[in-house]
Amino acid sequence: MPSITFTQPDGTARTVDSAGCETLMHVVIKHNIAGIEAECGGQLICATCQVYLTAPIPPAGEDEQDMIGDLAVDPRPESRLACRIYVSDLPEEVAVGVPPRQR
Ligand code: FES
Repeated sequence: MPSITFTQPDGTARTVDSAGCETLMHVVIKHNIAGIEAECGGQLICATCQVYLTAPIPPAGEDEQDMIGDLAVDPRPESRLACRIYVSDLPEEVAVGVPPRQR
């Protein structure tokens, strides 16, 4: 079960567990991580679940890439959508950056 460290834009970090969570979005919701809204609840229509993630995981699919390109605010090369990241694909320790804003 990966432990996940979320770092806010001001450098504040918080490490949480991912027990019982299918996706990174579920981890965010379970632990009420600030700055990641996940407004559409994982339906891939909002991009407000954007995170910065460099872990060695499967690359973003075309639909995820399109959403980041079209809707994500301040996207970076390492931008991913938390609702598309499966906890089972993550290494044991993961660092996740929270964007300055989601819209
Ligand atoms: S929660 Fe809306 S696209 Fe991920």
